[in-house]
Amino acid sequence: MEIDRRAFIASLGGAAVVAGMDHEAKADALEHHLEEQLDRAVAAQGQGQSEKYPTVAELEAQIETRPFRRGAGSVFVSNRGGNVKRLEPLPAKPTLLDFFRLRFAPANHVLQSATRAMKTGMSEEIILACLLHDTVQALMKPDHGWWGAQLYEAYIPEKSAFAIRYHQTLRFYPDPEAGYEYPDQYYRTFGHDYVPPQYIQDTYKMLKNHKWYMEPRLVTVNDLYAFDPNAKVSIDPFIDIIGRHFKQPKEGLGYDNSPSAHMWRTLTRPDSPL
Ligand SMILES: [Fe+2]
Ligand SMILES: [Fe+2]
Repeated sequence: MEIDRRAFIASLGGAAVVAGMDHEAKADALEHHLEEQLDRAVAAQGQGQSEKYPTVAELEAQIETRPFRRGAGSVFVSNRGGNVKRLEPLPAKPTLLDFFRLRFAPANHVLQSATRAMKTGMSEEIILACLLHDTVQALMKPDHGWWGAQLYEAYIPEKSAFAIRYHQTLRFYPDPEAGYEYPDQYYRTFGHDYVPPQYIQDTYKMLKNHKWYMEPRLVTVNDLYAFDPNAKVSIDPFIDIIGRHFKQPKEGLGYDNSPSAHMWRTLTRPDSPL
């Protein structure tokens, strides 16, 4: 697929913004750009999505074509071909920001989501939830809502953890009133004929009548793969919110005996054989 360089650079906020992006961030942006372009090309062909997106069976048939499983966390697999790279060690008492820098980077997707949440005047609990909502995918992808909530719930407001846990479920269910449609990307990721498993359906039923329904819903509303054309994405605007709402343990993440300390340690040392 050909890429229109000018349109791509403009979509990132112009040449100056691109110049300030590191190599990983550029590669990530390019990947999203190509995905979006592909979506548009498919739509432009004027054929039904079902003819262009894979089926569940086709995706299942790909399982045995890979040396890893799709659910493996991103720190365990090289996603750009070739071998994995040596990871920079974390400091002895690592903070959330250390994990962002050394394990979650470039974290473009969550930074974009949180940037949008901040721009649209969401609560600090939601902005924090958006900032953290997919970061656990470095460790584990299946059920990332539940894994993510567990990773963070000892350290963040209950509403933020609720939003992280359940955004995964609400991604499958449109809510046009709230401004959320089923993502085209999910046709490609899960198959166009995908039906969420029973526990997701049951969770959705529970959420519909929950007084906190809008917390995870607002994460899905901000859960986009698009750069704000005028903003350079960075964690800096969120430092204060993290300071106010993230209870950084003095021993460092992984060493405070919290229920998720082992998850932080695994992220710290993913090369450990046992
Ligand atoms: Fe997610
Ligand atoms: Fe997301």
